[in-house]
This record gives sequence, structure tokens and C-alpha cells, in this order.
Amino acid sequence: MLPTSNRKQQYVERMFDDIAPRYDFMNRLMTFGIDRSWRKATIAAAGLDRDSVVADIGCGSGDLCADAAAVGSTVIGIDPSRGMLQLARRRVPSAHLLRTVGEALPLGDGTCTAVVSGFALRNWSSVPAVIREIARVLAPGGRVAILEIDVPDRAPLRMGFNLYFGRIVPMLGSVLSSANAYQYLADSLEYLPSDEALHAMLGESGFKDILKTRLTGGIAQLITATRSEQTSDV
Ligand SMILES: C[S@@+](CC[C@H](N)C(=O)[O-])C[C@H]1O[C@@H](n2cnc3c(N)ncnc32)[C@H](O)[C@@H]1O
Repeated sequence: MLPTSNRKQQYVERMFDDIAPRYDFMNRLMTFGIDRSWRKATIAAAGLDRDSVVADIGCGSGDLCADAAAVGSTVIGIDPSRGMLQLARRRVPSAHLLRTVGEALPLGDGTCTAVVSGFALRNWSSVPAVIREIARVLAPGGRVAILEIDVPDRAPLRMGFNLYFGRIVPMLGSVLSSANAYQYLADSLEYLPSDEALHAMLGESGFKDILKTRLTGGIAQLITATRSEQTSDV
């Protein structure tokens, strides 16, 4: 059963602490390594280069941080899980890592040129609050790129996805990592906001050029947008 909203943050934090030691191994196994190409697409969509200052919200063990650091960007990793941050610290020593949530970023207004996030959105306690914080810390013209799992539109693919993500992933998790955690990861698809709701949140927070790109037949999605230059009406 999914935790109620006021208990979600504590539940999620503990769960990621528990599965941190096997998180990378399980990720590669469950996605057959395809997640690497999705992450590259995320970094490209955020337009990162050596002059970028990028915050990675829900950085976990540091996959996106590492890709951002590889193109020379200054990287700020944000995550509430101590266990995940320890892995990120080892993987990306140059990253500035902050143990906190995306709903309350300890960063000044307009201090980032880009924000990325990988598979964290459905774990956030409040998606609107995180989107507002992303808008606040981004400089006008800054890019946001949010990578998440998605449920494919087309029926045959959706059936395969539901079987794989709803049954096989929790089974693999129970054998190789944690039954409860991988059941939560499957069930937490219910926390995904609809396309319309997410689009509206981004628009209301001052983003333009909002685009959803379906990846690998729609089993993942990449949401991108640009922070509007006009900040006065937000
Ligand atoms: C599925 S993992 C993704 C990790 C990494 N971004 C990746 O792509 O592999 C989700 C991460 O989001 C973090 N998280 C959970 N709630 C959060 C919140 N409210 N704000 C920021 N990060 C959060 C978790 O601790 C976890 O490390």
C-alpha cells in the first residue's frame, strides 16, 4: 500500500537508504542498461556545458551528476537519502551534495542555469512545490529536464510494461534487494501527475516551451521546459 502524503517523505527516505547498496546494480538489470541513453538525452536536453551550474533534484547515487560533471558543468546534487548521497560522493567527488528535499532548495534565486532530475518526480512529496522551487532557483532562460518512467499509450506495449514493471520488477527486487521497496517503486507510478497537470504546473510556475518526449516506445518520458525571461508575473 502506498504511504499517505504526510508519511511519504519519511517512508521514501528510509526506503532509498535501505536499497542504496544495490541500487545501481538493480537499475542496470531492470532497464537492461537502456537508462544510460535516457540519461544522456536528459543531459543533452538541459543544454549542459562547462559554463553551466546544474542542480540534480533527487540525485540518488549520482548517475546524472556524473554525466553533468563529464561535460564540465558545476554540479549540485540534492537528495534526502544519506545512503544514496554516500554513493554519489564516491562517484562524483567534484559535486556539491546537499542532504535535503526538492521542496525546499537551499539555493538562491536564479543561481542555476539548468536543473535535471532522474526518476525522482514520483517520489517527491509535493510535485507543485518542487516545480516552484526549480523555477525559483533557475535563471531566466535556464532549462529544466525531468526524466521519469511512463506508462506507454499503445495497448500491446502497455500490457507488456504492466507485466514487467508490476510483477517481474518486484519479483527481481524481492530476490536481489528488497521486496517492499521494489513493490513501492512499481506502485508509485500512481503518483505520476497527468501530462495536463504537469504541463499546467510548469506553465503556472513560469516555464515556456514545455515539451514531453516519449523514450523507448513510451516506457520513459523526458519533460523539458525553459524558464521564462519574464519573472514579474510569476
Ligand atoms: C529512483 S531514485 C533516482 C536516483 C537518480 N536520480 C537516478 O536517476 O538513478 C529517486 C531519488 O529521489 C530521492 N528523493 C525522494 N524524495 C525526494 C524529494 N522530496 N526531493 C528530492 N529527492 C527526493 C530519493 O532519495 C532517491 O534517491
